[in-house]
Amino acid sequence: MKKIILTGDRPTGKLHLGHYIGSLRRRVELQNAGDYERMFVFMADVQALTDNADNPEKIRQNIIEVALDYLSAGLDPQRCTLFIQSMIPELAELTTYLMNLITVSRVQRNPTVKTEIKMRNFEANIPLGFFCYPVSQAADITLFKATTVPAGEDQEPMLEVTRELVRRFNTIYAPVLVEPDIMLPENATARRLPGTDGKEKMSKSLGNCIYLSDDKDTVWQKVRSMYTDPNHLNVSDPGTVEGNAVFTYLDAFATDEDFRNFYPDYQNLEEMKEHYRRGGLGDMKCKKFLNTILNNMLDPIRQRRHELEQDIPEIYNILKKGTEQARQTAAQTMSEVRQAMRINYFDDQELIRQQAERFKQQ
Ligand code: TRP
Repeated sequence: MKKIILTGDRPTGKLHLGHYIGSLRRRVELQNAGDYERMFVFMADVQALTDNADNPEKIRQNIIEVALDYLSAGLDPQRCTLFIQSMIPELAELTTYLMNLITVSRVQRNPTVKTEIKMRNFEANIPLGFFCYPVSQAADITLFKATTVPAGEDQEPMLEVTRELVRRFNTIYAPVLVEPDIMLPENATARRLPGTDGKEKMSKSLGNCIYLSDDKDTVWQKVRSMYTDPNHLNVSDPGTVEGNAVFTYLDAFATDEDFRNFYPDYQNLEEMKEHYRRGGLGDMKCKKFLNTILNNMLDPIRQRRHELEQDIPEIYNILKKGTEQARQTAAQTMSEVRQAMRINYFDDQELIRQQAERFKQQ
């Protein structure tokens, strides 16, 4: 069976290097490898609204930012269907039916939802829509019969809920929905890129992000002020690479080719780390190298973004077309869902005939 790949992001801000290394780069590789039947990437604006109900403007502004990030990073609307979640009413329909197949306590057990409730201080007052979003996410995945969901570890609990719902649906009604697998990022550095301040995670609210759309000067400013080893005061001092954000970024981004092209003093990152540990390699040199390779990676993305920005109405057009294509798949699955549940009354000639028979006899 060929893969159907589906994944999405909440459009609450521009995408940063953490998104790129954690998922976007992988999506582009998957797309270009072409080993799938369909690939869907969507903006989860409905999900974003579940904890931003008072600020729809934030989402309205960021749809275009995320679309530009997707396209400039290399997602290609010819090969991958890009769409907006709220424009697919079938998602709301399927969510409604799936909600009957899961209990409140099952959703309460979801560790990602638990963490988010704490983070947002929702403990006393959880919006019902927010509470239900794992079910809505199960609808996102199953409506398109996705087999493969590239996502971070934090999404595994959502996939578990999805698989349970699929099994329940298929057992109770008919085998229509497909159990999806998560596809996790390949390595540890890709899983969680720290912020430029060395804090655990790159996150907009912490102000420690390098955005895909940052220009050269901004990238250098951010790299120059990055957290390193606080005890590495003089160039000659021995330094520590563990927990040193510059080296974590080099782990994530530097290739041997980067060394050949931009830093031939070393063959690879291991040699460079060795020198840093020994002492004699200054932070500034490390930062300059990191800056060079980041810009080398970001330059073509920025270039494409610049071109795409010249015709913004066309970007909305791409999203509209993708949404129309996605709706065709959505309508097909919903028709199968209704048939499986036998609530497709108007198409059910057998039902109409039986009922006519029954009332005749009375
Ligand atoms: N929950 C995901 C996030 O916060 C976004 C998302 C919504 C998603 N629906 C999805 C991801 C379906 C994968 C598949 O990033």
